[in-house]
Amino acid sequence: MTHAAVSASAHPGIAAPRAGACPVNSFTEWDPLEEVVVGRLDNAVFPTWQPSMADTMPESSWGDLRTHGGAPFPAEHLRAAREELENLCAVLEAEGVRVRRPDPAPHDNSFATPRWSSKGGLYAGMPRDCLMVVGDTIVEAPMSWRCRYFETDAFRELIKGWFRQGARWMAAPKPQLTEDLFSDEAAEDGDGWAVGEFEPVFDAADVMRFGRDLVVQRSHVTNEFGIEWLRRSLGDGFRVSRIDVDDPHAMHIDATLAPLAPGKLLVNPERYVPHELFDGWDILPAPKPALPSDWPMYFCSPWVSMNVLSLDPETVVVESHEEPLIEALTAWGFRCVPVDFRNVYSFGGSFHCVTLDVARTGGCGSYLSGAETIHG
Ligand code: ALA
Repeated sequence: MTHAAVSASAHPGIAAPRAGACPVNSFTEWDPLEEVVVGRLDNAVFPTWQPSMADTMPESSWGDLRTHGGAPFPAEHLRAAREELENLCAVLEAEGVRVRRPDPAPHDNSFATPRWSSKGGLYAGMPRDCLMVVGDTIVEAPMSWRCRYFETDAFRELIKGWFRQGARWMAAPKPQLTEDLFSDEAAEDGDGWAVGEFEPVFDAADVMRFGRDLVVQRSHVTNEFGIEWLRRSLGDGFRVSRIDVDDPHAMHIDATLAPLAPGKLLVNPERYVPHELFDGWDILPAPKPALPSDWPMYFCSPWVSMNVLSLDPETVVVESHEEPLIEALTAWGFRCVPVDFRNVYSFGGSFHCVTLDVARTGGCGSYLSGAETIHG
């Protein structure tokens, strides 16, 4: 069933933004959610292939990705996923969260820089990849897929609005994305990663927020240069720690780690490498994903099952077919809000990927080892 998105002001259960407060305020993945952006898959097109994609994309989709760049995804498939996104918006609003959406935008226009061209964009479906909120600051990430060069455009009206109301806005240096970043030599310099150290690049979804601590993984889209840019740009109020994970296809940390509350970390048992930062935390290995093996997945692994969205430290939005995960989280003390989302999975993510939590109640705590205290 499709639910129409309801505007925040029209919904009696949704709190109005706090008068005079900065509209952007989000330090963790779990504080009570007040306002969230939910992406759009309207006009989504296949990405324009670049060889670095082979390191992260399911081999079953390489053929489609190589040949259909700039062409629309199958209409029926998109329709089902868009319906699930609309339903997610309705569920979030029913939970009292203000929902914002990017502008519908065409993604099939080709574009070029002096050094390369792309047959089209991709979508505005995964704000978690291109944008990050750290406290009162929106950060635009320097993504390394050329087809994603203009992806933040669809979010610019939202960002400008928040900026006018007092938020800070920071865009990483615009990357050149020439072969210097991707060449075999660059990959060797980068220890086998698809991107070397020619210039700073990262996807925002390679970062998890724990108050003053940000935890980041090196990946096929995030390099050390990008991590260092983030570290210095955020300044002394934050600590950016790189952790190792066991994921040869690493691209986005949010199907590997999911902090759900202070001291409660859901981990991917196939990828998690224990780290002293999490000393004192309860670690729950996520049950295996319930997705059938023949489900079409253009971009990611079935482990997006653990790509959940916290509404507060006791409440998590979980895909409704992931019954083993729902049982495990319920036994761990959480209220699970089940939502159908398998058609969205096919496009590269789940609830964490398709959202950007703009405002959560709370300030900048210290939760990880080495910090002063662990709250909660
Ligand atoms: N790239 C991550 C995965 O496929 C999200 O599991």
